[in-house]
Amino acid sequence: MTDRYVLAIDQGTTSTRCILFDRRATVVAVARGEHPQSYPRPGWVEHDAARIWRDTQRLIKRALSEAGVESSQVAAVGIANQRETVVVWDKATGTPVAPAIVWQDTRTSALVERLDAELIRSRTGLTPATYFSATKVQWLLDNGLRARAERGELLFGTMDSWLIWNLTGGLHITDVTNASRTMLMNLTTLEWDDELLALFDIPRAMLPQIRSSAEVYGTASLLPGVPIAAAIGDQQAALFGQTCFSPGEAKCTYGTGGFLLMNTGTEPVRSNHGLITTVGYRIGAGEVAYALEGSIAVAGSLVQWMRDGLGLIATASEIETLAGTVDDNGGCYIVPAFSGLFAPYWKSEARGVIVGLTSYINKGHLARAVLEATAWQTRDVVEAMNADSGLTLTALNVDGGMTADNLLMRTIADFLQVPVVRPMVAETVSLGAAYAAGLAVGYWSDLRDLRNNRHSAGRWSPSMDEARRAAEYANWKRAVESAVFFSS
Ligand code: G3P
Repeated sequence: MTDRYVLAIDQGTTSTRCILFDRRATVVAVARGEHPQSYPRPGWVEHDAARIWRDTQRLIKRALSEAGVESSQVAAVGIANQRETVVVWDKATGTPVAPAIVWQDTRTSALVERLDAELIRSRTGLTPATYFSATKVQWLLDNGLRARAERGELLFGTMDSWLIWNLTGGLHITDVTNASRTMLMNLTTLEWDDELLALFDIPRAMLPQIRSSAEVYGTASLLPGVPIAAAIGDQQAALFGQTCFSPGEAKCTYGTGGFLLMNTGTEPVRSNHGLITTVGYRIGAGEVAYALEGSIAVAGSLVQWMRDGLGLIATASEIETLAGTVDDNGGCYIVPAFSGLFAPYWKSEARGVIVGLTSYINKGHLARAVLEATAWQTRDVVEAMNADSGLTLTALNVDGGMTADNLLMRTIADFLQVPVVRPMVAETVSLGAAYAAGLAVGYWSDLRDLRNNRHSAGRWSPSMDEARRAAEYANWKRAVESAVFFSS
């Protein structure tokens, strides 16, 4: 019998990856391509959606050809994607009518200020922020597109919708996890909320139909006959790929940002400590699994800024070597509020700061402060998660590109005072999308099948002195206050 595989497309903030998995969740082929980030004004971040679609087609073909796999051997395609990013395109021609507005973009902060926070929280589970899609769509309509949208000529979608529309030649859908990030979906009914649509003045006709995260939506013309069988926001995909299927199980993914999600079961848990409530996943007609999420806007992108913005390192992995040239941060802290501060602070207007500078500070100390910023932000989110869930996290499952950095992993274990565990397959976003698609077509039979594939590959235990940790954390908190004080 010819071997069969599942193809995952991970359309992320900085790159698109196409990965083929076999039945034991082994990576058989990876094709990866970066796309440009455009920063036309301070606080603005844009992508070229047409370019991302071209990249996706090329990468699908490359992954298959590298593995010597025919499309007839692909059992299903699953899509995971950067969430919240807004694409608006012409229904007749399929051409984007504006640059995609990326989740990190803060141009809509004035619109967010005016929102009724309690209404948004109770309907959507989200804290009003520029992060989510609604005000971005509103901004595009207010800036020249409203008449065309009202005539029914334009469609809106997050990246999952955009790719599925192109792959299938015109199917306009999204999944419930992505819809839960738009600030337009009612978290209880799992439908678009008419009152919110009226509030943001967004015509319903431009919105995709909301479907589950794992079901056969259609087939891809690029891969004749192959079902597209999953769409799931990338952070929810990582939760699924880490097999966090039971309430209380959590993971943190370190990519461009950092995203800690805890499965809370079939009822949404509302946060009182600055987290957001979101949909974890829904497999076919099954029950919805909800999650609490602590979103950190800037993690890996701070390392990228050290490389591309400041030129202090040539490659991202050099940050660990540079940070290893010093014993500590020398009293320096970096709060990377490039897109404001997300969880648990939710201060859209905050801006980044570097504090504690003396002439003693060298680039090694800055590198260490960069890594520590990710670890302290994780600590902030874990404190909120423990308070909201009433549970105490006993270990943190991690994944994503930054987890290759052993110094960072040790620092997170020290700052959280719990062990940090990294799984064998670091590509958990792609794996989660593959798992969802594979379940939908019977490639894997059930969740137990998926759990059997899970093996850990690294574990770091805390070893930091408690008094020092407490003093450092107090300094971090003071640094955060100065980022909030230094608002745009
Ligand atoms: O909410 C934003 C998140 O989905 C982006 O993830 O890994 O593409 O930066 P990533």
